[in-house]
Amino acid sequence: MINRPRRNRKSEVIRGLVRETRLTPGQLLYPLFVTADESAHNPITSLPGQAQLGEEELLKEIEESIKLGIRSFVLFPVVNESLKDETASYSWSDDNFYLHRIRKVKELFPEVVLMSDVAMDPYSSDGHDGLVKNGQIINDKTLPILAKMSVAQAQAGIDIIGPSDMMDGRVGSIRSALDHSGYSEVSIMSYTAKYASAYYGPFRDALDSKPKFGDKKTYQMDPANADEALREAMLDEDEGADILMVKPALCYLDVIAKLKEFSSLPISAYNVSGEYAMIKAAAQNGCLDEARAADEMLLSIARAGADMILTYFAKDFARRNT
Ligand code: PBG
Repeated sequence: MINRPRRNRKSEVIRGLVRETRLTPGQLLYPLFVTADESAHNPITSLPGQAQLGEEELLKEIEESIKLGIRSFVLFPVVNESLKDETASYSWSDDNFYLHRIRKVKELFPEVVLMSDVAMDPYSSDGHDGLVKNGQIINDKTLPILAKMSVAQAQAGIDIIGPSDMMDGRVGSIRSALDHSGYSEVSIMSYTAKYASAYYGPFRDALDSKPKFGDKKTYQMDPANADEALREAMLDEDEGADILMVKPALCYLDVIAKLKEFSSLPISAYNVSGEYAMIKAAAQNGCLDEARAADEMLLSIARAGADMILTYFAKDFARRNT
C-alpha cells in the first residue's frame, strides 16, 4: 500500500498540522437578549443557559465574554407588549432602552463590535417583520421604517446594522439613509438568505415576538431553494451590503458553500436558537455529549465556508477553545 491516509491522523500534533478548518472565538458573534430592567436575569426556558438580561447582567455578560476572547455581540430587544404598535414607532423613540444599552456598551467597551437587529417584529403589535395592511405585509412602506430604525441605532453607536426582515430593497434604502445622515462608516450585515424556518421557535419565545397571524413565508425564503439565495446575494451586493449572512446554518450548509464560492464578500452564518436548543435537549436527555456535538456543529458551519458565526454557544466554545 503506497497511500495510507491514516499516517496523517496518527497523533494529535499531526492532526493539528493537517487540520483544514480552524475556528477561533474571534470569529464568533454572541447574540444577547436585552430587557428594559436594571438588574433582571430571566432564564429563557426554551434556550437553556440563555437569559433576558437587564443592564447590569448585560454588562457583566459582555465583560466575561471579552475575557474569553469574544469581541462581537448581537443585541436583541425584549419589548414590553404595551410599547408595541403597528408602525414599530418605539424602535426609534428617544427613550428606547435598546438604544440606551447600545450607547452604554460602546461607552464601557469601545473595542467591541456591536451588531443590531433591524426588523419590525420585536416592536410590532402584529408580530411581523414588515408593515401590515389588510393582512398583507407591505414591502415599500416598510423600507422607511427600517431606515429610521437603522439611523437611530447608528446614532446610538452601533457598528453593524443587521437587517433581518427580508423586505426587497431594504439594504439599499438603509445604506442610503445611513449615508445621508452621516453614518457612512456603519456597516451592514445583511440577512441575505433567511429561510422561513421552524428553527426560530425558541427565539420567538425569548422575545415574545411570534406573528399574531399567519406565517413569514411571503418574505422569508422557501427552504427548498438555493439558487434563489444567489439572486438575493447579488441584490444585497449591489445595494451595498458589507457581509452576507445565511440563516439558519445547519440545514443550509450547501447554501453557505454556494455563497462563499459565488461572492467575494465575507460570509456569515446564524447558528439559530433551534439548533442550539436541539443539542441542549439531546444532551440533557443523555443522548449526546454537548461539548463535542456543539463544537462539531460550529466546525461544520466554518468548513462549509462561513467566515464568522452568530451562535448562542459562543461563550461555551470560547471556554473550551482559547
Ligand atoms: C427577527 C429575527 C428572528 C431571528 C433573528 N431575528 C426571528 C424571526 O425571523 O422570526 C431568529 C434567531 C434565532 O432563532 O436564533 N426578524
